[in-house]
Amino acid sequence: MVEFSLPANSRVKPGRTHKAPNGAGNVRRYQVYRYDPDSGENPRVDTYEVDADSCGPMVLDALIKIKNEMDPTLTFRRSCREGVCGSCAMNIDGKNTLACTKGNDEVKGDVKVYPLPHLPVIKDLVGDLSNFYAQYAAIQPWLQSETPAPPDGERLQSHDDRKKIDGLYECIMCASCSTACPSYWWNSDRYMGPAALLQAYRWLVDSRDENTGERLDQLEDPFRLYRCHTIMNCTNTCPKGLNPAKAIAEIKKMMLTRRL
Ligand code: SF4
Ligand code: FES
Repeated sequence: MVEFSLPANSRVKPGRTHKAPNGAGNVRRYQVYRYDPDSGENPRVDTYEVDADSCGPMVLDALIKIKNEMDPTLTFRRSCREGVCGSCAMNIDGKNTLACTKGNDEVKGDVKVYPLPHLPVIKDLVGDLSNFYAQYAAIQPWLQSETPAPPDGERLQSHDDRKKIDGLYECIMCASCSTACPSYWWNSDRYMGPAALLQAYRWLVDSRDENTGERLDQLEDPFRLYRCHTIMNCTNTCPKGLNPAKAIAEIKKMMLTRRL
């Protein structure tokens, strides 16, 4: 009989518990994934007891408090603290989201914090996004036009054309959607994933861009685009409320339309 088992060093073990300071009246527990690939040790889940009365309202506030006051070795990314840079994307309470916009009060019981799924872990909550960014670069996310810009330097759009990029330009490339997608988990070397495809559609639908045909040619491939099986995890998890699944469907429609 075939036996499947995980490599020994991939098993996540119970970690340390960092107790709340004496006198803390309102204790909240955070279970946080810890892993340092260079150490040779297995991943573990450490528990931190945080005094909620002296902590800000968001999960990121708790992580910063833990790092500042309890355990400076905890590693995570963050920058803007207001949901616009995408750095703090992680898996909280079983869902990919932004730690800076996820309220502690949105989670019942212990707050479980893991890195985005199915990425190589650099350390703790920091996943390796090299492939993700390479895919973003591959869709050439800039305006491409042979027509020279008018002398005043601005390329104008009608209001209706401008509206077509609503729901697309707001993407902050946090990677929550792509790393929630099973197709991307299994084929991220060849499938572009929902984030890169939403960005591709943002340029495909921009009335000022003149490279539509070449952009579609780049995506006309059994894996790059068509590995989307409309599972919808991307749309369900996007912390900005965007709809990458719809953008992908629109690209598929453009592919069909140009064949007619
Ligand atoms: S579509 Fe949403 S989840 Fe995906 S990268 Fe953009 S902001 Fe993040
Ligand atoms: S820190 Fe910038 S989105 Fe959370």
